[in-house]
Amino acid sequence: MKRIAVFTSGGDSPGMNACIRAVVRTAIYHKIEVFGIRHGYDGMIKDEFIEMDSSSVANIIHRGGTILKTARSKDFLTIEGRKSALANLKKHNIDGVVVIGGDGSFRGALQFSEICDIPFVGCPGTIDNDLIGTDFAIGYDTAVNTVIDAVDKIRDTAESHDRLFFVEVMGRDAGLIALRSGIGVGAEAIIMPETKTDIEDLIKRLESGRKSKSSKIIIVAEGDEAGGAFVIAEQVKKRLPDYDTRVTILGHIQRGGNPSAMDRVNSSRMGFAAIEALIAGKQNVMIGIIDKKIAYTPFQNAVKHHQRLNPDFVRMLDILSL
Ligand code: F6P
Repeated sequence: MKRIAVFTSGGDSPGMNACIRAVVRTAIYHKIEVFGIRHGYDGMIKDEFIEMDSSSVANIIHRGGTILKTARSKDFLTIEGRKSALANLKKHNIDGVVVIGGDGSFRGALQFSEICDIPFVGCPGTIDNDLIGTDFAIGYDTAVNTVIDAVDKIRDTAESHDRLFFVEVMGRDAGLIALRSGIGVGAEAIIMPETKTDIEDLIKRLESGRKSKSSKIIIVAEGDEAGGAFVIAEQVKKRLPDYDTRVTILGHIQRGGNPSAMDRVNSSRMGFAAIEALIAGKQNVMIGIIDKKIAYTPFQNAVKHHQRLNPDFVRMLDILSL
C-alpha cells in the first residue's frame, strides 16, 4: 500500500472532516501517500484528484460539511462512468480507497468492484444512521442534537401559545433521527416509517392525553407512509379544530453544524481503522463501532437492511409521553 485515495460521497454529515483528517494523518504515519478526490464519484470520473499532506487537514476536526465536497453522481451509475473512474484511479497509481458515505456510496463501491481490483474500505457517513454494522454513523449524533436544540426552542413558543406542533425531521426512509430526538425532547408522539401510522390512534392520544399539558409536539419522520408533517397535520386539524396547530420542517439545518464530541471521536476512530484495515488487506468492508469496538461489515450486509428501531425505545416513549 503506497498510495491511497479518500473521498466523501452522498449527503454530507458532520464529522466527515474529522474522518478525512484521521485517514490522511494515519496514512502519512504509515508512509502512505494520500490523494483526496473532490466531489465524490463524480470527481473520480472527472479526475479531481488532489495531493494531500498533514497540513491539508489542519483545523478541520471541528467543522461541519466536507472539505473534499460531495455529490450524488448520476454518471457513476453508468458503466462508461465507472470505467473512466477506474482509469483515473489507475492513472494516479492508487492502491486503496477510503469512501466516506452512506447506503448509496457503498452500493456504488460494490458495483464498482465488478470491474475494479483496487480495494475499497468504507466509513459510514450519514445523518440517517440507516446502515447495518455501526451503532452510530458519522453525523447522526450531531443531527439528533440539532433537532433537540431546535425543538426545545419550538417547545418554548408552543407552551406560550398552547399550541400543537408537527415537526418534520430528516432520515429518508428511516425513523432513527425521529425516534432518538423524539425521546430527547419529550415528544407527545413520534411518527415513523418503521411503525404503522394510525391517524385515528394519534387523534385518540391527543384527545385523551393529559389535559394539564398546554403544548404538544409530534415528531414526524420525513419518510413516513402517511405523508409528511403538513399532510398529517391537515388530517388532524380537520378532526380536532380546537387545537391551534403549526408545522415546522427542520430541513437541511440537520446536516450542518460543528460535529458533537461523539461524532468527532467516532469519526477519528473510524478513519484511523480504515487505513489499518487497508494495510491488513481488508476490502469491500464498512468500518463501524458496535458496543464501543471497531467492527467490519461487508458492504453487501451494511446496505442490505435498515438498522432496526430499538423496540424498548418505542415502548418507553409511549409510556413517558403520557
Ligand atoms: O441521507 C441524508 C439526507 O439528509 C436524508 O435525510 C434526506 O432525505 C436527504 O439526504 C436529502 O437529500 P438532498 O440534500 O439531496 O436533498
